[in-house]
Parts: sequence; C-alpha cells; structure tokens
Amino acid sequence: MSELIRIDTDEGLINGNGHNGNGHNGNGHVHNGNGHVHNGNGHHPARVEEPVVPGQLRGMAVVGLGYWGPNWIRNLSQSQCARRVVACDLDQKRRDHISRLYSGVETTESYEELLDDPDIEGVVVATPVSTHYAMARRALEANKSVLVEKPLATSSAQAAELVRLARDRNRVLMVGHTFEYSAPVLKIREIISAGELGDIFYISSVRANLGLFQRDVNVAWDLATHDISIILMLMGGRVPEAVSCQGESHYGQDIEDVAMLTLRFSKNVIAFIHVSWLDPDKIRRTTIVGSKKMLVYDDTASQEKIRIYDKGVSAPPHYDTFGEFQFSYRYGDIQIPRIEEKEPLGQECEHFVDCIRNEKTPNTDGLSGLRVVSVLEAASASLRQGGQMVPIGSKV
Ligand SMILES: NC(=O)c1ccc[n+]([C@@H]2O[C@H](COP(=O)([O-])OP(=O)(O)OC[C@H]3O[C@@H](n4cnc5c(N)ncnc54)[C@H](O)[C@@H]3O)[C@@H](O)[C@H]2O)c1
Repeated sequence: MSELIRIDTDEGLINGNGHNGNGHNGNGHVHNGNGHVHNGNGHHPARVEEPVVPGQLRGMAVVGLGYWGPNWIRNLSQSQCARRVVACDLDQKRRDHISRLYSGVETTESYEELLDDPDIEGVVVATPVSTHYAMARRALEANKSVLVEKPLATSSAQAAELVRLARDRNRVLMVGHTFEYSAPVLKIREIISAGELGDIFYISSVRANLGLFQRDVNVAWDLATHDISIILMLMGGRVPEAVSCQGESHYGQDIEDVAMLTLRFSKNVIAFIHVSWLDPDKIRRTTIVGSKKMLVYDDTASQEKIRIYDKGVSAPPHYDTFGEFQFSYRYGDIQIPRIEEKEPLGQECEHFVDCIRNEKTPNTDGLSGLRVVSVLEAASASLRQGGQMVPIGSKV
C-alpha cells in the first residue's frame, strides 16, 4: 500500500470514492437473465422478461441473511428499486426463511454465482464483520457497487484498500452507518450547524443492553461503531486526535463485552462512549453539551427523542480575588423539536440505490467507513495498552 489516503479530508480521491464516468454501465442495459437462474435452494420465482421500469435497477443482492440481512431484503423488495432481488446465504434455513416471506426474491448459496450475474448492480454485505473485507473486495473486483454493513473492515489498511479499489473500478462503496440516516441524528446535525448549542464542549453516549454477543468482534467494534459514526458526523467529519479505550471480557473468550472509549478532538472537545452487552436496561442516550445550550437524544423514547435544554454556566470574564469569582447558572426552557421519523434503513437503502443509479458519492462513503475504522483501530491498540491515549493513524 503505497498511496496515502487522508482521512481528515477528501483530498487524494477523485470525487470521494471515485466516479469518473468510465466504465459505469448505467442502468439502461437490459439483461434477460438467461443463464443466471438463482435456484441455490430450489426456489424458482417466476422469471418475467418485462422491460425495465424507468429508474429501476436490473438487480440488487444481499449476502448474509442472519439477523440484519432480512431487513435489507424487506427494504429492497418493498421499494421495488430493482427488477430482481437476490438473497444469498450459506445456510439453507436462512434462504428458506426469506423464500417463505418474499416469493419474488431469488435465493442462492453461492456468492460467486451471484457476482457472475451481470444483472446484479449492487450488493449489500451483511455477513459477520470478520468477512466484510473479503466479501466487499470480491464484489468490487466483479465490478459491482457495494454497501458494506458497519464497520467497513477490521483494519484501516483493509478499509483504505476498499476505498482505492472502488475508485479504480469506478463503483459505489458505501458503509452501513445507519444512524447517519435517522431523522433525530440529522435534526441534531442541523441544530449544531445552526449554532444553537454554541461551541461543543463534550458529547457523552451510552449504548447498552443485554446481548447480542458477537463471536468475531468485541463490543466496541459492534456497538461503538454507531456512536463513533454519529459523533464524527456531528463534528462535521472531524477526526479525533487520539483515542483511549478500557474494557473487559467476562465470558472467557477475550472478546470485551463492556468498554469505555474517550475521543479527544482538537480545541478541547472530548467525547465519551460507554458500550455494553451486559446491561439490564436498553440505553441509547447521547448528551451534547455546548457553550449555549445542552441537548439530550434518547433513541429508546417512542417520541420526543430530542430535548434541548436552555441551561448553562457562565464564569466571570475577569476577577481579582477569589471572593469575586462566582459561576452563574442558567435554568431556562426545554424545547422539543418536531421530528418526522422514517425508517433509517429505508432512507439508507434509497440513498444507496440513488448513488448507483446516478453515479453519486454516498454520504457514508468508503472514506467515512475508513475514518470510523481508524478510530476503532486506535481504540483496540489502547485496550491492549491498558487504556493509554493512542493517536489516530499511528502504527499499532
Ligand atoms: N446497521 C445496523 O444497524 C446493523 C444492525 C445489526 C447488524 N449489523 C451488521 O450486519 C452484519 C450481520 O450481522 P448479523 O447480526 O445479521 O449476523 P448473523 O451472524 O446473524 O448473520 C450473518 C449471516 O451471514 C451468513 N454468512 C456468513 N458467511 C457467509 C458467506 N461467505 N456467504 C454467504 N453467507 C454467509 C451466515 O450464514 C449468517 O446467516 C454485521 O456486519 C453487523 O455489524 C448492522
């Protein structure tokens, strides 16, 4: 890997993840599907050779039909964004499950067969994290656009490799940072950008519940990925200068089930992320404290997820004696912005399809995935060093 990819800017990449117009075959190319029947588990949906609906892609696929993949299948089929939707999993039970739910969805156990199918324009990778890099790499090498579930890869070197490959192949590379498509998070970004909170002092996030334990990654790579992507987005893409992480494994597999991360940004901004698979309560709460106002976002609330508190502290600008020094506290109104909620995954799905169809760079592109992986990588290095601060991008 000789070329350096900067994670603090889009510099060095043509149009982010690289659409230069070469080689993209658009979506006007009709394939009749001959020779590409997907019947891996004996399921034969009716093959109707209908003309492509304007704007509809020829085909989209999802690999990995465990807990999360079926949500992608639902969104892709309900949106009718593609003439064909193909679902792939090694496990026949998972394929049968999808066939029972969606009669129009084709299934296969062979990822290679899927990638050989010229109808398939985009692939969603929803397999375990340890497989993301290899699965995404194969899809890009087969000239497919790809959305990789979070996190993009298990190292920044792998993530950078995918960014480079997508650019070389002129294909969309998107990462499943789902919360960046959720209405409350988008609203908070709007509030911060408008300067309503003032200068950001700190962000504190808790994401905890009982389960789901993962076998291949620890709780930071599983849950904190969401908080890191949210925090980086709210910080306008700013990357922290250094990260520390402490955690512990309680079930003897050296996979931490509880962790606390600290992200240090320039200009005295600090963020704390507490993640756990071992909490009696389901908590999804982010507090943002600014110089003017404070905001609390509770994603478990059924409504009124965001509250803006007109609370703050002022210190006297000048004082001569300690007796003159006095903080004054402000306790103002609480404001609850109206939010029109839409399923974040539905928004993300629509955006992925739009990026493929119109050769756009996704909001959560490969670079955004690389930034998040770089933070997680530094957190892992810190964990191994007992929680020391580790600069982002340092050799670990
Ligand atoms: N964006 C989100 O909010 C969100 C939420 C949950 C999970 N996820 C992500 O989704 C991904 C999947 O998580 P999950 O909980 O559904 O995992 P899971 O273990 O429940 O499912 C993974 C599936 O992939 C299949 N699989 C593995 N290797 C395969 C291969 N080579 N070819 C075909 N199929 C293969 C397995 O048989 C299994 O059915 C993870 O990356 C996870 O981080 C994202």
